[in-house]
Amino acid sequence: MLHLQSESAKRWLAQVDQSLDEILIDHAHCERKAASTAMNLMNAYTDNRPLCVEMTRIVEEELEHFHMVLDVLDARGIPFRRLASGPYGRKLNQLVRPSEPLRAVDRLLVASLIEARSCERFRLLADHVRQRDSELADFYAGLFESEARHHTTYVQIAEHFQPRDCVRQRLDELSAQEAEIIAGGCDLPRMHS
Ligand SMILES: [Fe+2]
Ligand SMILES: [Fe+2]
Repeated sequence: MLHLQSESAKRWLAQVDQSLDEILIDHAHCERKAASTAMNLMNAYTDNRPLCVEMTRIVEEELEHFHMVLDVLDARGIPFRRLASGPYGRKLNQLVRPSEPLRAVDRLLVASLIEARSCERFRLLADHVRQRDSELADFYAGLFESEARHHTTYVQIAEHFQPRDCVRQRLDELSAQEAEIIAGGCDLPRMHS
């Protein structure tokens, strides 16, 4: 369903255990960036009505998620602050081909894979923290469904720019590269380390 070619490594859960506060702050930034990505796509392809309608919905949902994570931070007394980004998003965006319509397809598929990986990690996090923090586990589990839907929406919108076969083949290529990038990890504790 999520078109991922790997499962997250146990190594990442060790980072979560060591730095849960920072993971939560980074999660807030991920939601903010997800809203920004959808807004940028709407600005870039503003003559594509179905894209604009779907991106508007995603922007609204991601901003709502952003507020939800800020509330979790407040409830736990964790100040929200700027964080250095890990390399995951930058490396994925470097895979985007420069000329249209391939650029549109790649931007949408990269967004779809980031949603998919977030989704996979929310489920892992929910299971991982369930015993010691059921409230946080419920919070993560509650985000799974909407991020899975965003993943599907991005893939479907990519099919407005190229035939379905081409999009699926490119999704396979990009998801193989995503698996390599996420396996490379990052020393900073982040949602996509
Ligand atoms: Fe979200
Ligand atoms: Fe999302």
